[in-house]
Amino acid sequence: MFLNDNLKIFSGSSNPDLAGAVCKYLEIPLGGAKIGSFPDGEKVIRIEDDVRGRDCFVMQSTCNPVDEHLVELLIFVDCLRRASAVRITAVIPYFGYARQDRKDEGRVPITAKLVANLIATAGADRVLAIDLHAHQLQGFFDIPVDHLSGELVLGRFFKAKKIRDLTVVSPDVGNIKMAASYAAHLNGELAIVHKRRFSGSEVEADEIIGDVQGRNILMCDDIIATAGTVCSAARLVKQRGAEKVYVGATHGVLAGPALERLEKAPIDEVIVTDTIPQTERAKQLGNITVLSVAAMLGEAIKRIHRNESVSNLFNQLG
Ligand code: R5P
Repeated sequence: MFLNDNLKIFSGSSNPDLAGAVCKYLEIPLGGAKIGSFPDGEKVIRIEDDVRGRDCFVMQSTCNPVDEHLVELLIFVDCLRRASAVRITAVIPYFGYARQDRKDEGRVPITAKLVANLIATAGADRVLAIDLHAHQLQGFFDIPVDHLSGELVLGRFFKAKKIRDLTVVSPDVGNIKMAASYAAHLNGELAIVHKRRFSGSEVEADEIIGDVQGRNILMCDDIIATAGTVCSAARLVKQRGAEKVYVGATHGVLAGPALERLEKAPIDEVIVTDTIPQTERAKQLGNITVLSVAAMLGEAIKRIHRNESVSNLFNQLG
């Protein structure tokens, strides 16, 4: 693939394997940078390549440790701006704080908006992200956002599985649009679980709209965090007579009790992508598969660099 050396890709420390895979796809070397810390914990970044007048992409998932990775991204962008990069795109495969996107009670922040402001203020000209939890988050950024969907990767995987008698289940009402899109793509029925949330990690699935008796289930979500949502919904569909249960989610945050819950839940296979790197313990879960978004991101980066349509990507990879 011919790309001139005007394109530079750099990686923060959150997900270097994914950045490496993107560079491999694009057949370009990863940009050189040194990321370190002062003894008091302050981060320091030094870019080792000439970026003057270059089109620069910095890849960083703001996953755990979220604040550390976020600040690193901000410093990286500032560093590129001061080194005279002509355009800077923050490539954020997983955008932490996305779920804090509204004031649903008094005296709480809208941290997703704050973080979007910080990224633009640091000097990013564009953002490339995957499944931002809610499409409207694109509007939180006052710079252009290219918003990709993990469905391009997960949908193709499930299509190849040719699951018979398929019902796609949305594990909560907030996710219906995504589930409907999977159902249409995979020729499945659609069902919706109603869940109640008691705290950040405690939820209960209490009702299903739609029939799951004797059906194979694909439960799709954008994020598996503590896995309360998908495990509770999996138990409910099983109680209602479902056969196999597959779970597909773009971002495998897998925090707190997630692994223990996924081990015990009646789930046949969990499929996530590599927007967030998985721990060795997670990889050892007998039923987890990690798919790569590297080709999708690489293709999008190539198109942004060449000022080509990113929307067309959806038609080509789907
Ligand atoms: C909720 O709106 C999201 O789409 C996910 O369902 C949720 O964030 C998952 O969280 P957990 O795995 O902790 O239940």
